[in-house]
Amino acid sequence: MQFRKAVIQDVDGIWEIEQSVFSSPWSRKQLAHELVANPIASHWVLDDGSSIIGFIMSHVVQSEVQIINIAIKLSHQCRGYGKRVLSEFLSQFNEKMYLFLEVRESNQPAYYLYSHFGFEQVDIRKKYYYDGEDAIVMAKMGNKIPTLLNLEKKRMSH
Ligand SMILES: CC(C)(COP(=O)(O)OP(=O)(O)OC[C@H]1O[C@@H](n2cnc3c(N)ncnc32)[C@H](O)[C@@H]1OP(=O)(O)O)[C@@H](O)C(=O)NCCC(=O)NCCS
Repeated sequence: MQFRKAVIQDVDGIWEIEQSVFSSPWSRKQLAHELVANPIASHWVLDDGSSIIGFIMSHVVQSEVQIINIAIKLSHQCRGYGKRVLSEFLSQFNEKMYLFLEVRESNQPAYYLYSHFGFEQVDIRKKYYYDGEDAIVMAKMGNKIPTLLNLEKKRMSH
């Protein structure tokens, strides 16, 4: 299992997952554009050697990282792959980077996954999605893993 930068050859694997897990998936053309032509794109895949198990897409501008999308193949969900993808993705950033994302209010799996890695709710965007659902904006500074965050909180409270 390898976590690596996404390349244009991954477009079909990403697209397949995208279509099966999102109600309003990106088109294959949009994904292909992201993979080859967007200068601020930083997209990654989890590859088991024969297929794409999951992916994370982001845009990076100076010290800001917007996570656009994370998804794990339906057949592989709830087995720790989401945590692995987010953990490997976050490990590349230092503590000065500001990371943020939007998540559907109803998307508990994603909300809990992000919370697990120290993301906190910072805002709500009303009726953000095409079907009228609100988006929760979540953010965190840097790449600190939960254990370190907890240790720091404990240290600060003494
Ligand atoms: C969100 C997603 C990436 C999580 O991936 P996953 O591989 O299933 O997640 P993991 O098995 O690594 O679980 C990680 C954590 O996510 C949370 N989680 C995962 N599935 C969950 C569920 N069904 N209900 C509640 N929390 C859940 C838990 O906090 C879990 O940690 P825990 O097992 O220690 O409690 C996956 O559900 C997915 O692809 N969803 C569809 C796409 C999507 O909605 N992406 C987010 C867009 S913002």
